[in-house]
Amino acid sequence: MRNILVAGNWKMNGDTVGNAELVAGIIAGAPDSDRVELLVCPPYPYLGAVVAATAGSKVAVGSQNVSEHEKGAFTGEVAPGMLRDIGCEYAIVGHSERRTLYGESSDDVAAKFKAALDAGLKPVLCVGETLDERQAEKTEAVVDEQLKAVLDLVGVAAFANAVVAYEPVWAIGTGMTATPEQAQDVHAHIRQLFAGHDANVAEGLQILYGGSMKGENAAGLLAKPDIDGGLIGGASLKAPDFLAIANAAAQG
Ligand code: PGA
Repeated sequence: MRNILVAGNWKMNGDTVGNAELVAGIIAGAPDSDRVELLVCPPYPYLGAVVAATAGSKVAVGSQNVSEHEKGAFTGEVAPGMLRDIGCEYAIVGHSERRTLYGESSDDVAAKFKAALDAGLKPVLCVGETLDERQAEKTEAVVDEQLKAVLDLVGVAAFANAVVAYEPVWAIGTGMTATPEQAQDVHAHIRQLFAGHDANVAEGLQILYGGSMKGENAAGLLAKPDIDGGLIGGASLKAPDFLAIANAAAQG
């Protein structure tokens, strides 16, 4: 049975004091369950402190982005090897805010995924459709294109060390959560797509849901067979909110 991964994407929020409180709260209240894995993804400047604060706990740390380059003259970028060096285990790639606000194409995302993996980080690959795309019944086509760019570059075996997050863009930060059925349909489709390449990888792949997930809706989403956790924005910024989801996962 796949473990459940409850991941917090803090986005561009937090400060030294607040982060320390948040992490201490999460560690103190983390459910005592072998099946539930916890991950927090703070902004770059705070990664080192959060790695230190989570040492010896069950909370892993990841970045929200990563450069596709190993090192060199790329002013303002952060290399995957640096993230690994300071103790990060995961890197989010292809978040819709990066795709939309910073023009990252699916090929850019694939390059970042590969660079992260090569450096020993576990990529969390975000995919998902906009409202227009959903209404035009293009959800599966959009998700397929986003996944295919990565599959073409790294091959299916790479996904034994990666996570996929289905995040419908229309549900992110809007309070409009996908219903468990809507999410499950896309998650099943994604798993099916991987099964077409490699049944074992598909079976082991954690597919997270993201988009206004919170304590009140987590249990319904996580009860679905192909939903293996959440990538949580707003509700990851307060320990009780994040823990409500982690506890729902532990009880499921
Ligand atoms: P949200 O964000 O939970 O605030 O909708 C999710 C995400 O963007 O990863």
